[in-house]
Amino acid sequence: MAKLKIAVLISGRGSNLQSLIDACADETYPAQIVLVISNVPDVMGLERAAKAGIPTTVVDHTAFEDRGPFEDAMNDALKQAGAELVCLAGFMRLLTDSFVDRWRDRLINIHPSLLPAFRGLHIHERVIEYGARFTGCTVHYVRPAMDDGPIIVQAAVPVLAGDDADTLADRVLAQEHVIYPLAVRLIAESRVRVAQEQVIIDHAEALGERMVNPKPD
Ligand code: GRF
Repeated sequence: MAKLKIAVLISGRGSNLQSLIDACADETYPAQIVLVISNVPDVMGLERAAKAGIPTTVVDHTAFEDRGPFEDAMNDALKQAGAELVCLAGFMRLLTDSFVDRWRDRLINIHPSLLPAFRGLHIHERVIEYGARFTGCTVHYVRPAMDDGPIIVQAAVPVLAGDDADTLADRVLAQEHVIYPLAVRLIAESRVRVAQEQVIIDHAEALGERMVNPKPD
């Protein structure tokens, strides 16, 4: 079966990109990365892509007067690469409604909290300050509002006594690296549908017994 062509949009470190690169290295994985776009030059994520032999493009937002032409440039690159699914992975620019609508249900994001709790930035600090006992991470379809949209996969992660933002971020990030490849795989296997703004996953009960919903193999 043909592999789903995905593009990954980054702004920095690219550890989630790396988890997708690693998943795609398995020949049975049903997706392939056809393009990595960064809006910031010289970031580690671009090196990771180059090392894996994946085409990269820098679309530097500072070179554009406003978001329209910046997004048009990204859109042209995505179309040219034949991307069928766009994965935001630490991409630190807000996208316009027009871009989001153009890629509706073909644009996903990973966010380091259990949405709809703790949208926005400085999440781990806020989770600790609030005293939450659980946090986690979410892969969701993107909608125009920030950190909003139908949820595909979540992993729950405990907040432990003595955690600071860094230790908690590390624990959450380890789960991000599990659920992003899982979400992409489910989509690539055509098991994911959006109905009335909720995600329905075929055969989700077959995914195992962990605190990940739906659970990884
Ligand atoms: C991750 O925590 C992701 O959830 C958030 O930004 C961070 C990106 O990290 N959206 P990396 O660049 O993938 O290492």
